[in-house]
Amino acid sequence: MIRLEAVTKNFASKRGTLPALHGIDLQVGRGEIFGIIGASGAGKSTLVRLINLLERPSSGQVWIDGQQITDARGTGLQALRRQIGMVFQHFNLLSGRTVARNVAYPLELAGKLTKAQIAEKVAALLARVGLSDHAQKYPRQLSGGQKQRVGIARALANDPKVLLCDEATSALDPQTTGQVLDLLQEINRELGVTIVMITHEMEVIRRACDRVAVLEKGRVVEEGPVAKVFLHPGHPVSRALVREAEGDAALSDPGTATGQHLRLTFTGADTHQPLLSRIAREFGVDFAILGGRVGHIRTTPYAQFSIALSGGDAVAATAALQAAGAAVEVIGGAAPAAAPAEVRHLHVV
Ligand SMILES: Nc1ncnc2c1ncn2[C@@H]1O[C@H](COP(=O)(O)OP(=O)(O)OP(=O)(O)O)[C@@H](O)[C@H]1O
Ligand SMILES: [Mg+2]
Repeated sequence: MIRLEAVTKNFASKRGTLPALHGIDLQVGRGEIFGIIGASGAGKSTLVRLINLLERPSSGQVWIDGQQITDARGTGLQALRRQIGMVFQHFNLLSGRTVARNVAYPLELAGKLTKAQIAEKVAALLARVGLSDHAQKYPRQLSGGQKQRVGIARALANDPKVLLCDEATSALDPQTTGQVLDLLQEINRELGVTIVMITHEMEVIRRACDRVAVLEKGRVVEEGPVAKVFLHPGHPVSRALVREAEGDAALSDPGTATGQHLRLTFTGADTHQPLLSRIAREFGVDFAILGGRVGHIRTTPYAQFSIALSGGDAVAATAALQAAGAAVEVIGGAAPAAAPAEVRHLHVV
């Protein structure tokens, strides 16, 4: 659906050229919610602005639906922009227009519908975002969440295939953020709109995205399914973003606890099995829990614990955890000693 190939972007500055993006390769599939996360200045806004050609790449190519768009101009560019809606952090509504007329604005610009058709379409869009009762209000009379719903309705006006959201929830409180993310997921599901979502918060990625790219200083340092990046972040920048969202216990450093230190990750149906107690009983091992987190990635439950495992048959216990669906990583501590013979015997019986 969207493909960036070796894209770079340099800005001219007083002190010479400022490289904002270096050799970005990315693919976003049709119907995906794709997250781009990174610190301030990492290049996130520049990256999405290349997708609707608010910026042009210094080198490399951008493809949408199999079409190379980097050289689009004039009517070709206008047609492309209509296929791509954009939602902004600070809503960017026109303060002198009512809610309905803000949503009508892109339809008026496109000039394809009659007044009556525009009114009908605006009513449908406001119903979709839950603002039918607010059509005649002005932006200043709305809460932040309501303003962003207007922004979303306006972005959908020309039936785009792609929605670009640049920090769409960053100005909202956590509860309103949740509601706006729910709305975006509903739009993705029901209208099949591909969504590219920029954020500096891992929490937004966890709640709403299928895949994520982590951007640092203009480079993609990690990319993959959200479950992978969120539960097993491979790059220090990704780990720092997870810690920021989940606290230190999430990826805890096990410290000096005795025994072997393991990180266990359960996802999906396995999350709610009483596995630890069963394994402890069966193999005579003891667990100390060093840290952990439980929650959902979109709708999939997960649990992740760091434990110190001691006593009993640790090797067999580890194998049984894996066999039962847990991902097991050794994160430190002493390697398990050979199990006492009587414990092994118990297990065999
Ligand atoms: N129009 C521009 N002219 C010059 N430099 C720019 C321009 N736009 C962005 N930059 C620079 O490019 C780099 C990346 O900026 P960008 O806005 O893409 O970052 P960001 O990840 O969106 O940050 P934030 O989270 O603060 O919005 C920064 O160093 C910024 O100063
Ligand atoms: Mg930005």
